Amino acid sequence: MNIIDGKEIAKNLRSKIAEEVSSLDRPPGLAVILVGEDPASAVYVRNKELACKQVGFFSDKIIKSENITEEQLLEEVERLNNNPHIDGILVQLPLPKHINANKVIEYISPHKDVDGFHSENIGKLMQNKSHLRPCTPKGVMTMLESIDCKIEGMNCVVVGASNIVGRPMAMELLNARGTVTICNSRTKDLAGKVRQADIVVVGVGIPKMVKGDWVKEGAVVIDVGINRLDDGSLVGDVDYDAIKETAGAITPVPGGVGPMTIATLLENTLIAYKKNL
Ligand code: GUN
Repeated sequence: MNIIDGKEIAKNLRSKIAEEVSSLDRPPGLAVILVGEDPASAVYVRNKELACKQVGFFSDKIIKSENITEEQLLEEVERLNNNPHIDGILVQLPLPKHINANKVIEYISPHKDVDGFHSENIGKLMQNKSHLRPCTPKGVMTMLESIDCKIEGMNCVVVGASNIVGRPMAMELLNARGTVTICNSRTKDLAGKVRQADIVVVGVGIPKMVKGDWVKEGAVVIDVGINRLDDGSLVGDVDYDAIKETAGAITPVPGGVGPMTIATLLENTLIAYKKNL
């Protein structure tokens, strides 16, 4: 059984990016906007800022009060859209309830939308002519490549249909000529669907939801979940210990998909930089 070491793959990707950055005239710039004080979001934003430093990017962390109005936030985005030192803009989600997150995402210039969430970029992903692709699914594709996982013709099952993970993940696998089934919390006989998978990607936010006997011998299992249990430990959406002997390859939590998402954000910022020159 093969443990897919996201930390190592992310480190290699960062080194490649850092090397490229060292030969550029100006550093690529990433702006990250954090609204409010959600502790998990604060950790993600700090990690993104650290990653920028590691590869020599300029990073602008913009922290706004929970009480910011939608209009003020849109003005902030507009300022960044027009800032020539900023190549990528990321608004950390979730946003407070009084702000329409979709409106904010659509306001980001599609050329600076390094999250790949703008409808223009999602539309391009659906047509397989992507420019900026959502980071988590794109990072998963990099992980599958790193183990030479054949996707063409394979049964790929995606559990979870969120805009951030499940939907773009399904498109990535379809673009790689996989045969894709998208499941959600209402799917009948979910265990049976997962059992048919050669490749299964799970992103639902339910600790250890995918059980040991749901996974076919030799299947590749990608766990996008990060759940904190009452004892403080972190677990994925997959019962790792029960599955690790059956799976052909599996991502650990932590140290699997998480580091890849951030490294892919840097990769996207560099792509945006090159296009915006
Ligand atoms: N919140 C959780 N994941 C993400 C992500 O990939 N991008 C943004 N902007 N917010 C998130």
